[in-house]
Amino acid sequence: MSFLPGEPLILYMPNGRVVSIAALRPGSKTHVDGTPVPHSYLMEEAREGVPLVLEKGGWVLPLRPTHAESLSNLKRRTQIIYPKDQGLILLWADIRPGQRVLESGIGSGALTVSLLRMVRPGGCVLSVERRAEHAEEAVRNVAILDPAGPPDHELRIGDMYDQDLFGSGERLFDRVILDLPEPWKAIDNVRKILRPGGILLTYVPTPLQVHTLSLALQETGHFHLIRTVESIVRDWEFGPQSVRPAHRIIGHTGFVTTCRFASEPRPYIPWEAPF
Ligand SMILES: C[S@@+](CC[C@H](N)C(=O)[O-])C[C@H]1O[C@@H](n2cnc3c(N)ncnc32)[C@H](O)[C@@H]1O
Repeated sequence: MSFLPGEPLILYMPNGRVVSIAALRPGSKTHVDGTPVPHSYLMEEAREGVPLVLEKGGWVLPLRPTHAESLSNLKRRTQIIYPKDQGLILLWADIRPGQRVLESGIGSGALTVSLLRMVRPGGCVLSVERRAEHAEEAVRNVAILDPAGPPDHELRIGDMYDQDLFGSGERLFDRVILDLPEPWKAIDNVRKILRPGGILLTYVPTPLQVHTLSLALQETGHFHLIRTVESIVRDWEFGPQSVRPAHRIIGHTGFVTTCRFASEPRPYIPWEAPF
């Protein structure tokens, strides 16, 4: 299949180097190994996964970026949740088609795009963000990564810690995902909008934050089965003469904490590994 104007494209070279094109534009050129390659040539001649001989010699392998690759190339004003943690979040929060999900804050919109992909068809995502400039950047990113998406994303500028943020008529959500520095300050609001049995997931970088959060959640009597995990992903390299872990690794990023919400307060039920 050939490439269309506006599409992103990654050219993989035989020497292992990579050229990323954010959007193909007729009339534009991109330098590959020092040689300008017209985008019109790529749009006419390149086919995904088919080695492409360049006009001035050499070849490249053209591929559409995966979702994880697109996230890593995102323009950002804030720290984003990396693909390694997003995979964990989507499974641990049990995000599914048809769900109503509330996330706060939106940051650069990296998680938002993944949530939107998972709740379709029929679901929706409401992002609550305190800073308008972050929201603007995030909405631009969502539009780039999800250009044909249905209107299932809503944005509210507001403070997730503000007790007046949600009125009594607010709809209920199946999942609440918090990427905030002090998620314990949002617990009262989460109690107003999370449906019984729903999952609250938080993402914080330090164990002290997890500790404060866990105690605050347990104290309410409404949040049970609190579980905290972190993901450590290590690449491996396999060559004819050696098999070894990659030299570089993304070290610590954040802790993912999940729990289930009960409508009435009861003594805390701890989570225990089923096996
Ligand atoms: C680390 S960023 C979120 C990154 C996002 N999850 C992503 O993957 O792109 C944290 C965001 O939370 C917002 N924020 C911080 N405190 C907030 C609050 N009380 N209410 C709403 N948003 C808040 C910040 O402005 C920032 O945009």
